[in-house]
Amino acid sequence: MVLTLHKPDTATVSPCAKLAGTLTVPGDKSISHRVGMLASVSKGISRVHGFLNSADCVGLLKAMEALGSRTHLTREGDLYIHGTSGKLLEPATQLDLGNSGTAIRLLTGFLSGYDISAVLTGDESLRSRPMRRIEEPLSRMGAKIELTGPKGCAPIRVTGASLKGIEYEMPVASAQVKSSILLAALRAEGVTTIIEPHPTRDHTEWILRQLGLPVEIEGNKITVEGFGPNGPELHARAWNIPGDISSAAFWMIAAAAHRRGSVTLKNVGLNPRRTAVIEVLKRMGAKIKVYPEKKRDEGDPAGEVRVSGTKLKGTVIEGAEIPNLIDEIPILAVAGALAEGETVIKDAKELRVKESDRIQTMCENLKVMGVNVEEMEDGMRISGPARVQTGGMADSYGDHRIAMAMAVLALFSDAPLTIKHVNCIETSYPGFWDDLIRLGGHVE
Ligand code: S3P
Repeated sequence: MVLTLHKPDTATVSPCAKLAGTLTVPGDKSISHRVGMLASVSKGISRVHGFLNSADCVGLLKAMEALGSRTHLTREGDLYIHGTSGKLLEPATQLDLGNSGTAIRLLTGFLSGYDISAVLTGDESLRSRPMRRIEEPLSRMGAKIELTGPKGCAPIRVTGASLKGIEYEMPVASAQVKSSILLAALRAEGVTTIIEPHPTRDHTEWILRQLGLPVEIEGNKITVEGFGPNGPELHARAWNIPGDISSAAFWMIAAAAHRRGSVTLKNVGLNPRRTAVIEVLKRMGAKIKVYPEKKRDEGDPAGEVRVSGTKLKGTVIEGAEIPNLIDEIPILAVAGALAEGETVIKDAKELRVKESDRIQTMCENLKVMGVNVEEMEDGMRISGPARVQTGGMADSYGDHRIAMAMAVLALFSDAPLTIKHVNCIETSYPGFWDDLIRLGGHVE
């Protein structure tokens, strides 16, 4: 996986007088991971339109190629995945999944019922993230998982084993953990039932359904019937992946808070378990309109989102809403800094184990820019509106969403802001700087 090291790893973003235009953000990262994995073992060639061509997703495809699939990206941007008809090769080397928690957690579950052995690893950030949360339920299913890094972290050795269905009540609301178990469950004997503390994104469930597999969803309970050690026969098909709402959120908030903001975002994924950011923005007084275009049964729901600028007001973000906007919290903290009054984010302790400790890294950066923010164990309290100062330097700490959130905040400052460690943006949003410039921003 290549993080373009030849490029300078800092960016200086200038304040922006007007923020306007129309964008199509790149494909959904969660869906791209799942489709990349499942198409790789399907029978035949799958055509994927809208696959996210980012470092995280390319890293996953490389891992799938090491396991036997072949991929080909056309000039038009469509990806063709030649599936292995359910067979996998034992990889000759470790599978390096870079910065992607989704790839390592889902692939561990996915591989645990195949008759091969593999070692899954990643960059320093990924090797410090908790993996016991998947090892525990997968081991209960009979999987052979060894966490060979310190303190329950990757590298992870997976050795194929016979699996059995389990009933599992998840201690944390995590779509990655849920999906890891669901993918393992396909090659298990018997039924697997998962109970979530709060509903989380359900892309895996819907993609499995689109592949014709019977997955039952009943409130917070998901049930899937295992196909035994040979797994189900999956057939290649065409996939159409919408734009990632987590990427669109940067521009939604930039436009919503900007005096002269007017942005239209096309083909944004509108899975109801991902749209909480829109509800929060409405509560903050944002002028935001959604025009749904594609319903669920035609693939993932998607539509156009139009946002124009106004004065935002503070809000409280907590409880069941958190899993449905977990990746948008850094940029929602920026919205809080620009809004009038207090914004409180709580019940979000999971942020401490993301690509960085996002509570700490976000609070530190906001403070550097003169924002009045108080760090809490499970979130933060922000008093706005801030007069954004640029005396210091922001630092993403290698976390793509922190880098992009700070770039958006810089658009509201009174002088240019330099952000350190911005190459990580490639993991989820290649083209971020081009889009910022397209909307009227300036970056060096
Ligand atoms: C994801 C689930 C979330 C999210 C991550 C992508 C997924 O993680 O933060 O960016 O694709 O399932 P958790 O499952 O750890 O909450």
